Amino acid sequence: MSRILLTGKNGQVGFELERRLARLGQVVAPGRGEMDLSDPDAVRRTLREAKPDLIVNAAAYTAVDRAEAEPERALAVNGVAPGILAEEAKRLGAALIHYSTDYVFDGSKGAPYTEEDEPRPISAYGRTKLAGERAIEAVDIPHLILRTSWVYGARGSNFLLTILRLAKERDELAIVDDQIGAPTWSRAIAAATGTILEYLGWNQPAFHDACAAKRGTYNLTAAGQTSWHGFAAAILAHAASAPPGTPFCLEQAPVLKPITTEQYPTPAQRPRYSVLSNAKLQRTFGVAMPDWKSSLADCMSSE
Ligand SMILES: NC(=O)c1ccc[n+]([C@@H]2O[C@H](COP(=O)([O-])OP(=O)(O)OC[C@H]3O[C@@H](n4cnc5c(N)ncnc54)[C@H](OP(=O)(O)O)[C@@H]3O)[C@@H](O)[C@H]2O)c1
Repeated sequence: MSRILLTGKNGQVGFELERRLARLGQVVAPGRGEMDLSDPDAVRRTLREAKPDLIVNAAAYTAVDRAEAEPERALAVNGVAPGILAEEAKRLGAALIHYSTDYVFDGSKGAPYTEEDEPRPISAYGRTKLAGERAIEAVDIPHLILRTSWVYGARGSNFLLTILRLAKERDELAIVDDQIGAPTWSRAIAAATGTILEYLGWNQPAFHDACAAKRGTYNLTAAGQTSWHGFAAAILAHAASAPPGTPFCLEQAPVLKPITTEQYPTPAQRPRYSVLSNAKLQRTFGVAMPDWKSSLADCMSSE
């Protein structure tokens, strides 16, 4: 059976991927302690020992605001390590799946971004993620760069869990209403990744060539769009109707107040509009991503 090396197994997407990929092959998932992505020697050593057929890189430096203060640390993980993974993939004859972000765009387009649109990041995080994309593209290997957005799930550090925590502590929540994007459930990202691998004939001799033929960048986000305020409103509505005693149940919801980006200054600038078009994903792999509202309902009724 073919071997998959997965990074970031304790992250939102990596956690879901470890379970989804286990249905496809033997998954080797070194944690940060075993393979620190900012240590090129450790990355090379681990990969040469594991000899995977596929590398799935779900690890990243994702602290968007902190990256402004420590761009070199973010660059090592997001910008440099993906290139090393790509070089090692080439050496091993492996394919590479890597995740990137809507924050490679500046948000000025005002219509869903396609893979043809020129990235223009406005944050250190976005710049380091774009550097990672470019580092992979510079190596001639079968690769898929999957750009996702506004990731949340039932575990980890994310907007859904932050809103539920704050809702228990405060009577009023002021949430930014002029940044538009697509909240995407980590489990939906893992499910779509598994479907893509199956489409490409994973575990069959032609997989490598099929992946090479489809190599490139794909947007992979929930369908639809909303603001952070709209996302928070949907979270609170679900929490209010959740059965008592269930993990997402909220007895008393706070008042939600829409505010502007200017009223909530952060170290990193974020795009005002970063909806991505999934048309290429659907056209190429037949993957139709669920609407963000139905995904949120599924997430909040999952265990
Ligand atoms: N979160 C979002 O809203 C969002 C939006 C768009 C795109 N993305 C992209 O989606 C992918 C998955 O993101 P996520 O939300 O699942 O991230 P996450 O929950 O923050 O998890 C990141 C993972 O990366 C690991 N990691 C960080 N630095 C590392 C290092 N130096 N060496 C090894 N592992 C390291 C972390 O390990 P520890 O557990 O040890 O910290 C963690 O397991 C990333 O490529 C991210 O850029 C995320």
